[in-house]
Amino acid sequence: MIAWGTLRGTGGRAVEVIRLVGLRRVLATEPRWMMQRKFLAFARDLTTPLPPVPLDPVIRRTLGPGDVAALRDLDPTLSADEIRRRWRDGQHAEGGWEGDRLVYVRWEARGPAYLRYLGCWLRPLPTDLLVVDEFTHPRTRGRGISTVASFRSLHRARDAGCRRSLALVAWWNRSALRVTRDHMGRRLVGTVGYWNLGVTRRYFATGELRLDRDGVSVSPADVAPGFMDVIDTPRR
Ligand SMILES: CC(C)(COP(=O)(O)OP(=O)(O)OC[C@H]1O[C@@H](n2cnc3c(N)ncnc32)[C@H](O)[C@@H]1OP(=O)(O)O)[C@@H](O)C(=O)NCCC(=O)NCCS
Repeated sequence: MIAWGTLRGTGGRAVEVIRLVGLRRVLATEPRWMMQRKFLAFARDLTTPLPPVPLDPVIRRTLGPGDVAALRDLDPTLSADEIRRRWRDGQHAEGGWEGDRLVYVRWEARGPAYLRYLGCWLRPLPTDLLVVDEFTHPRTRGRGISTVASFRSLHRARDAGCRRSLALVAWWNRSALRVTRDHMGRRLVGTVGYWNLGVTRRYFATGELRLDRDGVSVSPADVAPGFMDVIDTPRR
């Protein structure tokens, strides 16, 4: 049986994608997206000076087990199991609150992270911070909530000794590209994704990302990039 929450989440996500990129663009990109899930990988060097953090439109705090219901209200596609798994894996969730309402979440990892949208593990370098996922409530978008969270994250990561901040963005996601690439000054370091081949997926990785037996790993910038490493991986 399909849970109502899942249905609401999937339908809601579809409407949201249409709102984000426009119906015409969805119709143009959807066939390609169904066949090939391609994400662009961006990196920001944290050893160079960072711009100051702008004024914050929301109250931020680290989220924990008491916030599962609020997280599911914000993004119903996230199951309680998935949320707990992320914490078990050592991921960090920072929330943005308007009064008692959670309107933003940002998931980050220092170390390997299972990415549900890729269906595999991504292993950054020990000195990398990986932005796993972020979500702003549709009614509070375009107010800089994600941009300020990204600035805060860069400073936090640098202060914690990270040398680089990494993020993956679906190639069609204009809002996320504005924040991740344009506002944060990240540079494109590779791509990763898979071809949908019915019962299997054919993964690919380019640039500083590499496929290996356990998923995808990230090379240091000074290692020669792997171009189009391809393996077949069964669907989970
Ligand atoms: C991507 C996302 C997190 C951005 O959050 P946000 O808080 O709206 O981001 P900001 O307000 O800081 O910046 C949004 C940028 O998106 C665009 N934008 C502006 N108004 C917008 C609106 N009402 N809705 C969506 N995007 C808008 C603008 O290009 C803006 O850049 P600008 O400052 O140059 O104008 C949000 O759109 C979201 O949750 N999307 C769905 C989940 C997702 O795609 N996550 C990213 C995975 S990498």
